Amino acid sequence: MSTKGQMRLGAFFNPTGHHVASWRHPDAQADAGINFKHYVEITQTAERAKFDLVFLADNVCVRDARMEALSRSAQYIANFEPLTLLAALSAVTSRIGLVATASTSYNEPFHVARKFASLDHLSGGRAGWNLVTSGMAAEAYNFNRDAHYEHGERYERAREFAQVVVGLWDSWDDDAFQRDKTAGIFFDPDKLHRLDHKGENFSVRGPLNVPRTPQGRPVIVQAGGSDDMIAVAAEFAEVIFCAPLTLEQAQTFYRKIKGRMAEHGRPPDAMKIMPGLSAIVGRTAAEANEKYEHLQSLIHPVVAREILSTVLGGVDLTPYPFDGPLPENLPMSNASRSTFDNVRDMARKENLTMRQVAMRVAGARAKSVVRGSPQQVADHMEEWFRNGGCDGFNIMPPHLPGGLDDFVTLVIPELQRRGVFRTEYEGCTLREHLGLARPPSRYAKSATSVAAE
Ligand SMILES: Cc1cc2nc3c(=O)[nH]c(=O)nc-3n(C[C@H](O)[C@H](O)[C@H](O)COP(=O)(O)O)c2cc1C
Repeated sequence: MSTKGQMRLGAFFNPTGHHVASWRHPDAQADAGINFKHYVEITQTAERAKFDLVFLADNVCVRDARMEALSRSAQYIANFEPLTLLAALSAVTSRIGLVATASTSYNEPFHVARKFASLDHLSGGRAGWNLVTSGMAAEAYNFNRDAHYEHGERYERAREFAQVVVGLWDSWDDDAFQRDKTAGIFFDPDKLHRLDHKGENFSVRGPLNVPRTPQGRPVIVQAGGSDDMIAVAAEFAEVIFCAPLTLEQAQTFYRKIKGRMAEHGRPPDAMKIMPGLSAIVGRTAAEANEKYEHLQSLIHPVVAREILSTVLGGVDLTPYPFDGPLPENLPMSNASRSTFDNVRDMARKENLTMRQVAMRVAGARAKSVVRGSPQQVADHMEEWFRNGGCDGFNIMPPHLPGGLDDFVTLVIPELQRRGVFRTEYEGCTLREHLGLARPPSRYAKSATSVAAE
């Protein structure tokens, strides 16, 4: 397969899109989170455009926020469980990769191994697991805990969790199942391997009750950026979703994480780094600006203030006049100090009120936003791709379906013209799309006739 010189593209779907007010867009399916027809349409659009994968994020809670703001938001409130949704989507698509999030803090490894192995079989080798450790306190309250695991502790658990999952995926050799009706032999006992894992966090005997999958193992994805996360990712992750804001940040992260892979005997090419990119695209830059301004006009001020409050580390902004200046002496944690300095500098430079600052912060949500004509968006992507910033992007349409349609009809052809994105799928599995080798089973050498590719 020839994937050299071409970028990988994911379609990262929030139900109505990534802009906080996307659910109020006139073309939005306001019930998108539980609208299967909507997901079929956008996933098939992404497949027609030859995206490598669709990606669904997930939290195991309704997020916490002040109720007057929460009740005006559609994101991370109520929607399909992502693996269930991807199982259904696997039946109405044939090529595109299907990546769902599952938390290592609030799952058992056997469940995760079994579900993703099943999705890999159902989809003919298109499954990917986005391994996250979860970040919201509210998730802990749904799983018998009063507080979330502390950062280092949850990544320790994540490492052992991933070891167990990968081990379970190798339970059966590729050719273990003979299903020989005449001889009466269903499987070859020599090709079945019990894991017998006993560790700090998990005790799992195995074997998994799902055969080895079309991809050998589903693709492991990780999202985040901390040192703890990088340590686990260097060992296990094959795709990284991250959120650098500048090319320089992207290059530093790229070098750092790929530089750690050798410790585990992995070549740098065995991991694809795909930063999130929110692209607001129009036929011209002016049209893109109009689209952005329209979305911005739909943000409710109460929601904008809540987002600004969250970005500043949870400080209560309600006592301050919304149309006054940003207060200089807010009670804040150290963690939010540098963010506050950035936001305050922006407000000072342009003489912005708190309302204006809040609207701007709510529109960007600490992610990389590019706005412009197809050429401008493609220039940005090519610059990052050609200069060691990434192996591709996880495209975050600001609203759905329109934001995806714009990207597919305007930017994809431009990328194809430049020769940096495929015009046809090279293979059938997610691994083949991404240019990742099919991993041999850990037992391949000792087994008698394993098809270790
Ligand atoms: C693009 C992207 C997608 C993410 N998706 C999820 C998600 O679906 N569920 C989740 O709990 N966390 C998600 N996260 C959060 C990360 O897993 C991680 O907890 C967060 O970035 C904090 O980073 P750290 O764990 O490296 O400190 C995502 C992060 C990024 C950058």
